[in-house]
Amino acid sequence: MSGTTSDKEFYKIFSYVSLFIIALAIIIAILSNVFASSVENDNYNKVKEKAIQERLASPEKINLASNPTFKSEVIEVSSAKSGKDIYNSVCMSCHMSGAAGAPITGKADQWSERLAKGNDTLYSNAINGIGVMPAKGGLMSLTDDEVKSAVDYMLEQSN
Ligand code: HEC
Repeated sequence: MSGTTSDKEFYKIFSYVSLFIIALAIIIAILSNVFASSVENDNYNKVKEKAIQERLASPEKINLASNPTFKSEVIEVSSAKSGKDIYNSVCMSCHMSGAAGAPITGKADQWSERLAKGNDTLYSNAINGIGVMPAKGGLMSLTDDEVKSAVDYMLEQSN
């Protein structure tokens, strides 16, 4: 009989302990919720507030030119580039050394045959590509007129 009693006692204690643990879990859950939300909101609001203040206070501080994405956009968007600039940045890599058989800028004898084709053909070949040379020297964002002005510059240098 003593075995039944201790079982009963065990169940009693066990249920008390279980209830206690459940109650504790609920309290912890509530407390952590309260803490977490208050801490999060505080930080979030502080950071947000600071970011807004910074943006409103000093727009001139944002240095767009230091942003490489912005820079390359500027290079591609700006249209007023001289033939010389375009030549130096895009065409020179091949046309100065004669890489891949490119006619060398400044060497009139390498251009005489090509000049005989007429400027319009040279323009359109530079724009659409010819042989190994990629269309527009590989920089597709160039306008046709920009490529033409680069061709003009190359031909001026090669006379
Ligand atoms: C990747 C190297 C490369 C770049 C960059 C390049 N070229 Fe060329 N270009 C060549 C080669 C190679 C040829 C000769 C192609 C042939 O005759 O088969 C050539 C030929 C030409 C010709 C003569 C076309 C003809 O009809 O004979 C012109 C004009 C020309 N390039 C202009 C330009 C201009 C302008 C640029 C810059 C916007 C440029 N190239 C950039 C490699 C290049």
